[in-house]
Amino acid sequence: MANSQTVAIVGLGYVGLPLVLQCIDSGLGVIGLDTDPTKVQALNSGRSYLQHLDSERIARLPERAFEATGDYARLTTVDAVILCVPTPLDEQQTPDLSFLTSSMEAIAPRLRAGQLVALESTSYPGTTEEAVAPIIERHELVVGRDIALVFCPERADPGNEQCTTRAIPKVLGGITPFCRERGIAFYEQMIDRVVPVSSARAAEMTKLLENIHRAVNIGLVNEMKVVADAMAIDIHEVITAAATKPFGFTPYRPGPGLGGHCIPIDPFYLTWKARAYGVDTRLTEVAGQINHAMPLYVVDKIAAALNDRYKAVRGSRILILGLAYKKNIDDMRETPAAKIMSELSKRGAELAYSDPHIPTFAPMRAYQFDLSSIDATPEHLAAQDCVVIVTDHDAFDYAAIAANADLVVDTRARLSEHAPNVVRA
Ligand SMILES: NC(=O)c1ccc[n+]([C@@H]2O[C@H](COP(=O)([O-])OP(=O)(O)OC[C@H]3O[C@@H](n4cnc5c(N)ncnc54)[C@H](O)[C@@H]3O)[C@@H](O)[C@H]2O)c1
Repeated sequence: MANSQTVAIVGLGYVGLPLVLQCIDSGLGVIGLDTDPTKVQALNSGRSYLQHLDSERIARLPERAFEATGDYARLTTVDAVILCVPTPLDEQQTPDLSFLTSSMEAIAPRLRAGQLVALESTSYPGTTEEAVAPIIERHELVVGRDIALVFCPERADPGNEQCTTRAIPKVLGGITPFCRERGIAFYEQMIDRVVPVSSARAAEMTKLLENIHRAVNIGLVNEMKVVADAMAIDIHEVITAAATKPFGFTPYRPGPGLGGHCIPIDPFYLTWKARAYGVDTRLTEVAGQINHAMPLYVVDKIAAALNDRYKAVRGSRILILGLAYKKNIDDMRETPAAKIMSELSKRGAELAYSDPHIPTFAPMRAYQFDLSSIDATPEHLAAQDCVVIVTDHDAFDYAAIAANADLVVDTRARLSEHAPNVVRA
């Protein structure tokens, strides 16, 4: 590595890989570490595995500035280590910090005085101090003296080209003021605006507030959608009208449920930790229940719309448009599409899906379908009993969908609800 400062980025997924590119663009040398050998191999052969990052960008990385590896021993030479490993929930909806602690266990024996360790994975307040710092200190290093330890949450918005890694302000909190100052100096090399807060806990809580704010507001508009539908009011018209208020209202749009690695999961991190303090997070939990129920609401709408056409779900050909959890990306983690498909399948539907970003249905923990994407051609659309817009990718031809499908159940308000073949859900 010829660059003056080098950083190790641990976990090269949706968060870690864009960060690699930002560090390199900012003149840092990067060692990317991942336990998945296919990712390491892809990167070292100049290939990207994330659709929104061109392989060309990886192939163009200067060899002297970047190396991917699965070997933790390579970390001894770096100035900073940034962790971007997964923080999922286990089967009991409890925070699963095993990826974080196992990577820290592997990193800690290789740390040396003077290094910065930054945690970007989302977690509950106290994680950096209670779960990460003790692992470091078991190796005769003192956090705040030998090692600067900070929490600096990621705020990526995959698919949003306006919000680059550099342009998104980054909140940062340290275990001590020394940690914070080291963290600020490091991140200011590559981020336009670092927003310091008083502690790692405050930074952890900031990330959870941001995501719970979204989850609760989405829960609110989803509930309003159900009420408005019962009253034959168009909720989208209402939200658009409310959004003209120049203060005190932020528009959120309803949908088929929550997806992605963050919004459906992160609220449970706070709920779990709050319990240890004897505090209930009731509003967060209710919003979660409402959002969780949306896929079934969509399925009931599909069943009712078929019923109105003298058809049962059983035996109906149903085409799902969009598997990804949000538009124009290839990420299907926690996607509501899978839950909708599972319920339709249980009720005997004959399913197909179309998603230009997801060629085959990769098995998920709870859902498996042996399906590949079909093109939403006029012929395929016309052959269905029902077409369901779950994810409104820009690549779909909405005029062709409206013109060729007998029945469209539209969860994203892409089509006019006044068309005789369109039902909003
Ligand atoms: N995806 C997002 O948009 C987003 C946004 C903000 C925050 N986050 C948070 O960032 C963290 C990472 O999310 P992601 O979406 O990048 O996950 P991801 O699954 O895309 O990537 C994680 C990577 O870590 C690797 N990994 C797992 N265990 C490892 C270990 N012990 N050592 C090294 N590598 C290991 C995996 O192979 C994978 O490549 C999570 O805490 C998530 O909540 C994600």
